[in-house]
Amino acid sequence: MRNKLVVGNWKMHGRLATNPGLLDAIRSGISTQTAKSAGVVVQVALCLPYPYLAQARQSLEGSSMAWGAQDVSEHDQGAWTGEVSGSMLADFCCRYVLVGHSERRSFFAETDAIVAAKFAAAQRAGLIPILCVGETLVEREAGVTHDVITRQLDAVLAVNGSAAFVRAVVAYEPVWAIGTGKTATPAQAQEVHAAIRGRLARESADLGNRLQILYGGSVKPSNVADIFSQPDIDGGLIGGASLVAVDFLAICAAA
Ligand code: 13P
Repeated sequence: MRNKLVVGNWKMHGRLATNPGLLDAIRSGISTQTAKSAGVVVQVALCLPYPYLAQARQSLEGSSMAWGAQDVSEHDQGAWTGEVSGSMLADFCCRYVLVGHSERRSFFAETDAIVAAKFAAAQRAGLIPILCVGETLVEREAGVTHDVITRQLDAVLAVNGSAAFVRAVVAYEPVWAIGTGKTATPAQAQEVHAAIRGRLARESADLGNRLQILYGGSVKPSNVADIFSQPDIDGGLIGGASLVAVDFLAICAAA
């Protein structure tokens, strides 16, 4: 049985003054849930904007929760104005970093090659990359969902090798379901999750079995139970609902 993982992606939200209230509410809610759920391992993490990582560390250190960032440079150091390296994230005790989120791919022109390089950079710094994959509505309607997902996975496999996925997480986020209120049906999500697991299982059956695959895209307390009940869905990558403590805690409780 794979452990569950729920990751909040704050995106470009949060303020210095209000973050501690949200972080503390989530931390104390999670500690109550953890006390009640003996035996089931549910890791909960938050990916915050860079300037707030110190606050995340201050609020969450010593708890069962982890934290991380939403992007990382493909470079380790040097004259790369505006970039943030993996080792800088490690300085703030980040455990996870998102790589290849669809908002990075579409609004910041991140190619499969850049995403593969960022995945490598994250691992060089000891971070666990959460590799985001997903198709657009046009791609889904054209019937090429599986081709897109396979291409996105293969680009990372080609550069990093399958062994790199032993210390990585994959998140399936259909682009058309992000922030739109439209969720993939549990069956649609399960189908793609099974395909992702199948692709990795072709490299190694053990790897396929172990890989944690998260679903993301308009996950809310009202739809989470059906989504998390699918056999190949190991948790969620939560955007909007991670900014509301009661909603995020309800999602974590479902896991
Ligand atoms: P929403 O949950 O707001 O749809 O965002 C999903 C997402 O992009 C998480 O990375």
